[in-house]
This record gives sequence, C-alpha cells and structure tokens, in this order.
Amino acid sequence: MTGGIGALKGPLHGGANEKAMEMLLKLKNAREAHDWVHNALQRGEKIMGFGHRIYRNGDHRADILERKLRKLAHQKGEENWLEIYDTIRTHMEREKRIFPNVDYPCGLTFYLLGLPLDLYTPLFVAARVTGWSAHFIEQSMNNRLYRPISIYRGHGERAVPPIDER
Ligand SMILES: CC(C)(COP(=O)(O)OP(=O)(O)OC[C@H]1O[C@@H](n2cnc3c(N)ncnc32)[C@H](O)[C@@H]1OP(=O)(O)O)[C@@H](O)C(=O)NCCC(=O)NCCS
Repeated sequence: MTGGIGALKGPLHGGANEKAMEMLLKLKNAREAHDWVHNALQRGEKIMGFGHRIYRNGDHRADILERKLRKLAHQKGEENWLEIYDTIRTHMEREKRIFPNVDYPCGLTFYLLGLPLDLYTPLFVAARVTGWSAHFIEQSMNNRLYRPISIYRGHGERAVPPIDER
C-alpha cells in the first residue's frame, strides 16, 4: 500500500484532482476560463486533469464520472461551474486534441459534495486500495510481472444489493 501511495503521489498523477479544482476555483466565469486556458497553453503549461499516458483518445472513467457530475451540479443549482468546466474542456479538445482524464470531473464532483480539498487524493487512494490488494494477492500467487497485458478473468458485472438487504 505504501508503494502504491508513493507511486500515486504528486500533481501529475494522484494529486491532479486537487490541482484541477484549484485551477477552477481561480476562475469566475466562462470568459475568464477561456482567456486563462488560452494563455496557459501559450506559456506551455500543462493543464491539470487533462491527458493520459495510456488513454490517448479519452479516458472512459472521465465520461462516466462526468455524467454524474452534471446531474449533481443540476441538483445543487450550481450549473455555473459547468460553464467554466466545459469552456476549458472544449478548448483543450479543439486546440490540443487532449481529453479530460478522471481527475478533471473528480475534482469538481468532490467540491460539489462539499469535501475539503486536501481529502481528494486520500479519498481516491482509499478507493484504489481494493484493486491494489487484488493485484498484490494475484501477483504473490504467481510472481511474474503481468502489466501491461493483464487480462481480467473474474466475475462479469454483478448487481450491488442495497445496504439494508445485505
Ligand atoms: C498524464 C500526463 C503525465 C501524460 O503524459 P504523457 O502521455 O507523457 O504526455 P506528454 O507529457 O508526452 O505530452 C505529449 C504532448 O501533449 C502535451 N500535453 C499532455 N498533457 C497536457 C496537459 N494536461 N496540458 C497541456 N498539454 C499537455 C504535452 O505538452 C506534449 O506536447 P508537446 O509534444 O508539444 O511537447 C500528462 O498528460 C499530464 O501531465 N497531465 C496533467 C496532469 C494530470 O491530469 N494527471 C492525471 C493523470 S490520470
């Protein structure tokens, strides 16, 4: 677990959800967002929450979370955030062909849920612990490196019973 946390640490990996939200918090409206992202790209800066080493054509996790984010923003009457969010997203796609990774919608989702900013990365880690444990157990059973060709052979999709029925 410590190794996993160490590998995830830092703004270019696990810390990107916090950095993405810090960026959005600096922007008051779509106009400001447009000018800011345009200038940041001109300066050669990396925009947090965009790009991925493997998912070059878009991160499927970002699409799934983004649908939840839009619903949440409407429920909370906070659609103004979506305007800022979409302005940067559209600009990145149009100008750079670089798509959001999961950290982009993650930062704003956590913010709208009222979570403190410095808990975003620890929460992301907490969710990862199950997967890291599974990898560790599997790796210990037959100690050979299997990435990047890991193939999932477990259960297919399973329904999650509501808490009071467990
Ligand atoms: C995730 C990341 C490290 C992947 O890096 P990578 O696949 O090695 O991509 P590279 O660093 O080689 O970048 C390739 C090109 O895209 C550009 N690029 C990649 N991500 C970018 C971003 N977020 N903003 C602006 N430009 C970006 C690079 O500047 C580079 O341009 P160049 O060829 O003109 O120099 C990188 O996209 C990044 O730093 N993203 C921001 C941090 C982030 O959100 N991390 C969470 C990942 S889940």
